[in-house]
Amino acid sequence: MADNLSRGHWTSRFGFILAAAGSAIGLGNVWKFPYITGQNGGGAFVLVYLICIVLVGLPIMMAEFLIGRHGQRDAVGSFAALEGRRSPWVLVGWGGVAASFILLSFYAVVAGWSFDYVVKASLGTFAGRTPDEINAIFDTLVSSAGQVIFWQALFIVATVAIVLGGIRGGIERYSKILMPVLFALLVLLFVRGMLSPGARQGLEFMFRPDFGSLTPKSILDALGHAFFTLSIGAGTMITYGSYLEKDSDLFSLSLRITILDTVVALLAGLAIFPVVFAAGLEPGAGPGLVFQTIPIVFSSLPFGSLLAVVFFVLLSFAALSSSISMLEVSVAYLVDEKGWGRRRATMLIGGAAFLVGLPSALSFNLWSDVTPLFDMTFFALFDVLVSSYLLPIGGFLVALYAGWFWKKEEEKAELAGRTGRRWLYPVWHFLLRFVAPISVLVIILNKAGLFE
Ligand code: TRP
Repeated sequence: MADNLSRGHWTSRFGFILAAAGSAIGLGNVWKFPYITGQNGGGAFVLVYLICIVLVGLPIMMAEFLIGRHGQRDAVGSFAALEGRRSPWVLVGWGGVAASFILLSFYAVVAGWSFDYVVKASLGTFAGRTPDEINAIFDTLVSSAGQVIFWQALFIVATVAIVLGGIRGGIERYSKILMPVLFALLVLLFVRGMLSPGARQGLEFMFRPDFGSLTPKSILDALGHAFFTLSIGAGTMITYGSYLEKDSDLFSLSLRITILDTVVALLAGLAIFPVVFAAGLEPGAGPGLVFQTIPIVFSSLPFGSLLAVVFFVLLSFAALSSSISMLEVSVAYLVDEKGWGRRRATMLIGGAAFLVGLPSALSFNLWSDVTPLFDMTFFALFDVLVSSYLLPIGGFLVALYAGWFWKKEEEKAELAGRTGRRWLYPVWHFLLRFVAPISVLVIILNKAGLFE
């Protein structure tokens, strides 16, 4: 295997784990998980979520790594290597390239706000402000097309700069910096949360099992989020798996990545909710929680400006380690399938993602009234297209392929590697044949509104 800048390999298991965990750990962990947990009965929901992660998320993640490692190419090329260029399975690879590219285009918009908030917090912009003033700061930012686009562009430039360095010198190297710093900052905020007077209420909010508030809808929410948070269905894990050496133990690697992702989601909830409750605020959803509630809470705490800087640096790092994995999917496609140099591919895709992201950036200001379809702005449309359809459909097809269509002997040999866990293949294969495809199909049908 040629080991040049364009198609490299991870230098170590540790580097790979941090890079893949970096992809999984993103904006989804820091606000979405804690919020939907509180909405769906706390501990009971966490339990269901963990079951979904283990029975559906983990097996599909392993299948993606396996497909990539077997093919030793990008998402499209890996299916082509397995089934031939003309096979319809190649379309699954294409779906992944499309999903991760569109995801990058609008993820960069929100991640850009996080960059801006690092600067604002460092300048002490939030200190001593009233909640109304802090809400107004957010509104001023998003309603300025120029500012939103400036930060979106900067975020894309940062993503491009890392991916330009390749697998070892870029993605792995920066993941080894970003992820440990993220972890340290998170632990700091977690300790701060546990020392706050709202600690008890925060713990109850996240963990008190209230099976009464666990509806069929919350089970689907748990499944959908389990899926999104592990970055499956977008060709990402296929691409990252293709940079693995043949003898890597995929089960133990995937397990560690999954555990890291889950631990970060839980710690984020335990860092955020105690301080929110201690300040007597309601935990709001989405951008509101992250960009309004958090600065309000920190503005009134001792060392609040510092904590706010810590929080937004953490959020920026989490977003950046995810966005590089989104960019890498398309770059790997151009490098492996079209023979492009990494430099040219990265610049072109980065520039294209910026342009395609412009309508999403404008959705909060100049084009906030532009709703091309279903009464949704471009941002909302892209989000629904990717999160509700492309990712689940991609994951469903990966499960179907690995569960039913991949040649059994070839698949078994690829999974076994050097390790001799006899139970692994039958259990994994059963989950992929039945449990994963059926559950993912139910999420897709539910998202399409068929159960309403
Ligand atoms: N897992 C990421 C998060 O929690 C989001 C995500 C979904 C993603 N699918 C992806 C990231 C594919 C990279 C690639 O924020």
